[in-house]
Amino acid sequence: MQNINKLKLLAFAGSLREKSINKKLLKIVVDGINTVDADVIVLDINAFNLPMYNQDIEDKSFPEDILTFKTMFNECDGILIASPEYNGSYSAALKNLLDWVSRPDNTKRSYFKNKTAAIMSASPSKLGGIRGLMELRTLLSKLGYLVIPDQLGISSADSVFNENDDILDSKTKDGVIQIGRELVRITKLINSKD
Ligand SMILES: Cc1cc2nc3c(=O)[nH]c(=O)nc-3n(C[C@H](O)[C@H](O)[C@H](O)COP(=O)(O)O)c2cc1C
Repeated sequence: MQNINKLKLLAFAGSLREKSINKKLLKIVVDGINTVDADVIVLDINAFNLPMYNQDIEDKSFPEDILTFKTMFNECDGILIASPEYNGSYSAALKNLLDWVSRPDNTKRSYFKNKTAAIMSASPSKLGGIRGLMELRTLLSKLGYLVIPDQLGISSADSVFNENDDILDSKTKDGVIQIGRELVRITKLINSKD
């Protein structure tokens, strides 16, 4: 029987690069989410045609891939983001994506409001990207997301993943998996009170 309460989550990394440690982190979180509770769509934003935001482009028409993103953001109940920290903030690719999705259109669709977000970062540095997460939390809150209190900054992340892109240290891995489960728990609570 189909579970009509099954959540829809959208997961993506703020990094474009193929061997991104943030993509590795995201995969472990997504794999830890119980598929009975949620369907998770994992996006690689580098696989899309995502021009830098330019109102001249928008004035002509939204690019096809931006419309695809907008539909996905509208249809999900919550998002999971693993963003690299660039100069103490989130990545430009991530901001660009959110800027495009935020643009008003002729639908009455809601892209951010009444939705949840979980944020995390992996970095080779000792701080694990937590400075970027503070700014990302503020940005997402401004857009209308309820950003869950738990967040994750994985430090020295270049030595945390093994050659199979897994995390060997079980305590670290449990903490990583927990963030996705907490997102599911809180999103379920929000969606049960309509
Ligand atoms: C422009 C730039 C700025 C960076 N600034 C920071 C920083 O402020 N803090 C940090 O921890 N790492 C910083 N890094 C290093 C990234 O954390 C590292 O490249 C990481 O692997 C990027 O994530 P990815 O592997 O998911 O692409 C920076 C990297 C670049 C390219």
